[in-house]
Amino acid sequence: MLIMDVALRRMRAEDIPQVIEIEKEAFSQGWVGTPFRRELNSRYCRFLVAYQTAPDATPLESATVAATASAPDSSLWARMVSGVKSALRIEADTQDADLAGYVGIWLQGDQAHITEIAVRQQLRGQGIGELLIIGTLRVAYEQGMEEVTLEARVSNFIAHRLYDKYGFNQAGIRKNYYADNREDAVIMTTDRIHTGAYRGKFSSLQERFLERYGTIQIEL
Ligand SMILES: CC(C)(COP(=O)(O)OP(=O)(O)OC[C@H]1O[C@@H](n2cnc3c(N)ncnc32)[C@H](O)[C@@H]1OP(=O)(O)O)[C@@H](O)C(=O)NCCC(=O)NCCS
Repeated sequence: MLIMDVALRRMRAEDIPQVIEIEKEAFSQGWVGTPFRRELNSRYCRFLVAYQTAPDATPLESATVAATASAPDSSLWARMVSGVKSALRIEADTQDADLAGYVGIWLQGDQAHITEIAVRQQLRGQGIGELLIIGTLRVAYEQGMEEVTLEARVSNFIAHRLYDKYGFNQAGIRKNYYADNREDAVIMTTDRIHTGAYRGKFSSLQERFLERYGTIQIEL
């Protein structure tokens, strides 16, 4: 079993520089900056960030030195800090890099709409994207939403797999949705999340996540 040393909490203003770094890295193709500061103040928007929880975790700059100078450490965070320095060069001198990813959610009527979800490249494939989807669904339940929806590039196979796993179905296509290359978007939407069937599916997915990663820590 892997022990995950990443948890979710609500995004704060001081997180914005790191979130912009993650956004730029993930969406370099046709990147248009999200007005995070404005959206953070909106009651219709929720942002969650995935952050480091290891109590003895070392800030980015010194940890990078430690990771290269000592024996390899297999912990998730050590793997991150050894690879992430170049992606964070802009902020590294003044700020500790402790964020691994984020998700943006708009609450529109009875729909929670995922506007963006991203994980630092060096940390992908280790459950953090899945944790962000679990956090999104918990926000949707807490806010009394009926379903969760999003758009994804038709070519974004990895994201489709993640959404399929959490019961998002293809609900339609938006033609030429992305301005950079006129790629179509697939609209993916869950079934109604308050049905017994969806609640059961979500519970068993969380149980499997716990078995695999050891913990789910989410502060809404
Ligand atoms: C999409 C993204 C957020 C997934 O985050 P992640 O932390 O890598 O995902 P996880 O490790 O939690 O994996 C969850 C599921 O995603 C799918 N997945 C993840 N990596 C995959 C890969 N390399 N190949 C195929 N499926 C993959 C699998 O279904 C996986 O579940 P499994 O482990 O049971 O097979 C991440 O790849 C990312 O930031 N991509 C760039 C930004 C982006 O495209 N965002 C989506 C916009 S719509």
